[in-house]
Amino acid sequence: MGKTAAVILAAGKGTRMGGHVHKQYLELQGKPLLYYAINAFESSSIDDIILVTGPGETEYCQKEIVERYGFTKVRSITEGGKERYHSVYEGLKSVPDCEYVLVHDGARPCITLEVIERALEGARAYHACTVGMPVKDTIKVADDNGYAKRTPDRSSLWLIQTPQAFKYELVLKAYEKLLSSESYQTGITDDAMVVETMTREKVKLIRGDYANIKVTTPEDMEVAGVLLNRIYGRK
Ligand code: CTP
Ligand code: MG
Repeated sequence: MGKTAAVILAAGKGTRMGGHVHKQYLELQGKPLLYYAINAFESSSIDDIILVTGPGETEYCQKEIVERYGFTKVRSITEGGKERYHSVYEGLKSVPDCEYVLVHDGARPCITLEVIERALEGARAYHACTVGMPVKDTIKVADDNGYAKRTPDRSSLWLIQTPQAFKYELVLKAYEKLLSSESYQTGITDDAMVVETMTREKVKLIRGDYANIKVTTPEDMEVAGVLLNRIYGRK
C-alpha cells in the first residue's frame, strides 16, 4: 500500500483566543495544545507527519514539542503563510513521497485514532473526503442588518472538521491552481473547498466526532480539557 502523510497546521495567530501566546502553545492538562494532535497521528497508521508553524517558531516546536515528547514521525517543520491555505500549501510541498495525505488543524486536540483511520479509509475509497458531523442547532442566514433572512434545511447541513483526506496528487494540483489565481482566493476556509472549486472531484462527507472541536475562543479551552480527560482516561 502507498505511503500516507499528515500535515498538521499550527501557523495561525489565535486572534479570537486573544492573549500573547499563540493558542496552539497554550497549556492544556500540562502539555501544549499542539501536543495532542501530533500524539494522535503519531499513534495512528500514518507514516509521516509535517508540522507547519509560524515564522520563528520552528525551533521551539522541534525542541519543546517534538524532542521533548519523543515524537518519531515528524519529518519536517515548515513555516506557514498568511492565510490557512498558504500554510497548507507549504505543508503539502514538504510532504515526502506519499499516496494519501491528511490535513489537520493543530487546534483540534481531541482528535482520536478512530477518526484518523476513518478519514484515511475515506481517502482510499473516495480520493477526497472530510470528516464532519450533522448540525444539531438550527442555522439561520442573516441579512445585512442582522435579521433572519433564511433558514436552510438542517437535515442537509454538516459542521465540517478536520482531518480532511485526499489523494496527494489531487490535492496538490488543486492547491497549485488556487495559488496561481488570486481571484479564487477569497472565502477559502478548508481544503475540501479547494478541491471542490479547483477540480471535478466530489468530496465525500465522513462522520467525525462531536468531541473533535476546534479550540478557537477561551471557553473552548475548558471544554477541550474535559474532553481530553475523557479521551486520555483521566477522571
Ligand atoms: N492556521 C495556519 N496558518 C494560518 C492560519 C491558520 O496554519 N495562516 C492553522 C491554525 O494554527 C489552526 C488551523 O489552521 O490550527 C485552524 O485555524 P484557526 O482556528 O482559524 O486558527 P487561527 O487562525 O490561529 O485563529 P484566529 O482565526 O482566531 O486568528
Ligand atoms: Mg484563523
